[in-house]
Amino acid sequence: MDSRKPGRFLSFEGVDGAGKSTLLEALEGPLRARLGSRGLVRTREPGGTPLGEALRERMLSQDMDPLTETLAMFAARREHVVRVLAPALARGDWLLCDRFTDASFAYQGGGRGVDPARIAVLADWVQAGTVPDLTVLLDVPPAIAEERRSRARAADRFEAEPARFFEAVQAAYLARARAEPSRFLVLPGTAPTADSVAAVLARIAPWLD
Ligand code: TYD
Repeated sequence: MDSRKPGRFLSFEGVDGAGKSTLLEALEGPLRARLGSRGLVRTREPGGTPLGEALRERMLSQDMDPLTETLAMFAARREHVVRVLAPALARGDWLLCDRFTDASFAYQGGGRGVDPARIAVLADWVQAGTVPDLTVLLDVPPAIAEERRSRARAADRFEAEPARFFEAVQAAYLARARAEPSRFLVLPGTAPTADSVAAVLARIAPWLD
């Protein structure tokens, strides 16, 4: 029998400006230290593979139909699942993934108005059982996220959307979290980063022994 401990899949979500990148940056080192010789893969969506990164560049810069955008997100995701995520989990590695399918429900579903039932079909088809063990959702008041976005480098195609788009994205994220409370850890994106790191480490502690 294989006595290796299973790998774990952690995804990180929130509207642009919620503080995801800052949290991931701060969490990676302490988590690596706890994992010791076990592998940890930090990756992102859209992206994480050469084809996925090429699709990301187009999706973040070129205007396209919402359904095209949804299909492109899932095309990039399929490559990522098959070439990176599933093999890592099969090795017993941990995954820190900056966005995953919840982002499609939030941005394409909530933000662009694509029918969530269609997104669910694509998710089933593309993920084939590869789902996060834990999803950390950073919840920030829309005005604060907007203020952070305005301070960041030049806005991409999503970041340039108006406030009402992000309000719809945020509402869809919170609805996802309410529907699956055991998978989600919702943290305030305004808390000190160290507090958020501690909250994530506390939540995953049972998996680290
Ligand atoms: P983001 O992860 O915020 O990267 P950065 O911090 O470098 O800006 O940017 C990715 C964008 O892609 C973000 O605006 C949300 C969008 N996105 C979707 O619309 N749907 C998806 O399924 C995913 C994964 C991302």
